[in-house]
Amino acid sequence: MSTRTAEEITSAFHRAVQAAVWAPSVHNTQPWSFTLDGPELALRADSGRKLRLGDTMGREMLISCGAALMNVRLALRVLGCQPQVRVLPDPDRPALLATVRMGEAVAADEHTRLLHAEIERRRTHRAGFTELPVADPLLEAFVSQASAEGARLTPVRSEAAVRVIAGLTGAAQDVQSQDRMFTLEMIRWAQPPGSSRREGVPAQGYPRQPGRTSPYFAQRDYAHGHPWGSDTDQSGSTSTGTVAVLTTPGDSRQDWLVAGQALQRVLLHASAYDVSAAFHTQALEMFHLREFLRQELLSGEYPQMIMRLGFSVDEGEGIRRPVTEVKQERRTA
Ligand SMILES: Cc1cc2nc3c(=O)[nH]c(=O)nc-3n(C[C@H](O)[C@H](O)[C@H](O)COP(=O)(O)O)c2cc1C
Repeated sequence: MSTRTAEEITSAFHRAVQAAVWAPSVHNTQPWSFTLDGPELALRADSGRKLRLGDTMGREMLISCGAALMNVRLALRVLGCQPQVRVLPDPDRPALLATVRMGEAVAADEHTRLLHAEIERRRTHRAGFTELPVADPLLEAFVSQASAEGARLTPVRSEAAVRVIAGLTGAAQDVQSQDRMFTLEMIRWAQPPGSSRREGVPAQGYPRQPGRTSPYFAQRDYAHGHPWGSDTDQSGSTSTGTVAVLTTPGDSRQDWLVAGQALQRVLLHASAYDVSAAFHTQALEMFHLREFLRQELLSGEYPQMIMRLGFSVDEGEGIRRPVTEVKQERRTA
């Protein structure tokens, strides 16, 4: 095994965190923190950023952190090492989600480079898609990416099942929008135009007048009555795209981290082929609706993400907190 200097390790971990912050996270809460401790990088959940009402168990927070962990792994692979990852290494420290060390030197393969190149380019879509369908071989490739991480991505082929998922999304969105406390929690992460905050969903992150898909998949109401949103004309893009559900066999913290890594791997592979994802996770935040989906449509597997996949005209820019805000170094005396 090659010996690395402390400077080389610090520099590699810095680049890994630079990549990590571009992971998707629920409402762009970016609920992670990283600590450099000698040869080890620790990933922790930042529970102050958890959605207390929308995400009582911290499931979406851990999916977000899992996606960030995938970026760390890819960044280290591209720097020429096989990362050694321990997930949930210490039961007495539940906030410690993973530790990562730089393992043996090994050159990155082409696919790893392909995924890595998409980390900053990938964006969440919040409108209809163009009419161009996602071809079956590409969908199969997405399914393989998820299964390589231990999760299952199921493209929903039945029109009736797509209508059921759209209906559950609409029901959840309607219930949540009636709930004042829930709305206030979401508004905290919705940024007005011109905001300089580097977190939350910016007003340019969704079109002001999105084309309406059929069946209609309700979007989160980030504008909550304001004329916010980008001027991008998405009115001609009204295709639903391919609806897909990411599931895991269990529903533990370990499963959520698996789901996050699988999600990010699917999204990066999709992005490399110009396929974007729109998320509709409202129904998964309501126990009974999630259970209904699990039992009636998903053969008992636990739904972790609901998405639509398709081609879009143009995506906005992403915003993230600077690395200095999420990374600290533990100095040993
Ligand atoms: C667990 C999870 C749930 C999400 N749920 C939704 C959702 O219901 N609606 C939505 O528009 N975006 C959703 N997103 C996407 C985030 O809002 C998005 O990742 C974040 O704003 C950062 O933007 P970016 O993905 O374009 O970089 C979700 C992301 C994650 C990881």
